Amino acid sequence: MELKTYQDYNAMSSAAADMIIDCVRKKPQALLCFATGDTPRLTYQILAENSKRDKIDFSKCFMIGLDEWLGISPDNTGTCHHFLHTWLLQPLSIDPSQIHLFDGLTPNEEEECERMNNLITKKGPIDFMVVGVGMNGHIGFNEPGTDIESLAHVAILDHTTRTVGKKYFRDDVQINRGITLGLKQVMQAETLLMIANGKKKAPVIKQAVSEKISNSFPASLIQRHSNAILMTDNEAASELEILQT
Ligand code: F6R
Repeated sequence: MELKTYQDYNAMSSAAADMIIDCVRKKPQALLCFATGDTPRLTYQILAENSKRDKIDFSKCFMIGLDEWLGISPDNTGTCHHFLHTWLLQPLSIDPSQIHLFDGLTPNEEEECERMNNLITKKGPIDFMVVGVGMNGHIGFNEPGTDIESLAHVAILDHTTRTVGKKYFRDDVQINRGITLGLKQVMQAETLLMIANGKKKAPVIKQAVSEKISNSFPASLIQRHSNAILMTDNEAASELEILQT
């Protein structure tokens, strides 16, 4: 794992966007996987702006979503579906035939997971995956204790995820369960980019990189990935003893 720290959120987001563009330049037919949340929003905005400016061709890529809240309509502005369409897919004019997101309203959750697993088997491996990190160390909705061999699955969200997750929703919705790619798929991504910013993520980043590798803190598994980059701003890295740039 390589750690890269940047002066602020803008600089980190810009570097993350550059990495994604670089991947697509090198492999136009790349399979890309994207997280949502407050952390990657600016990365996606910069990605869309720079891609337009530099005429980056995304027409051969395929894009998948990392996770989704279960039981909530995709029209709800708090969903991953809504987020990805708003900040990434529409701005980049990605054709619907190039996108596969989890359906949070699926009547058959098992089949929904199978669909995603089969797609990754057929089109994979995932060339580039962007993930954030939760306050409990989760990656996607791989909550503490998730099996490291897991594929796409339904997750019972833990107390921290349910509490923190309220920030995405305007209404008082029930966010008890999620659907997510599994840790095995995260670890199999050719390039894994984890991004984190802000003071509140400092203890999480410290635990992810300087403590024992364990699925009881899924973000720590990044230490074991052979091609992972952890990008943070200075605030998120502020509890680390050694800063690298
Ligand atoms: C969302 C996701 C989550 C978030 C994490 C951090 O698609 O996969 O694991 O990345 O909860 O969220 P933010 O960026 O809002 O702090």
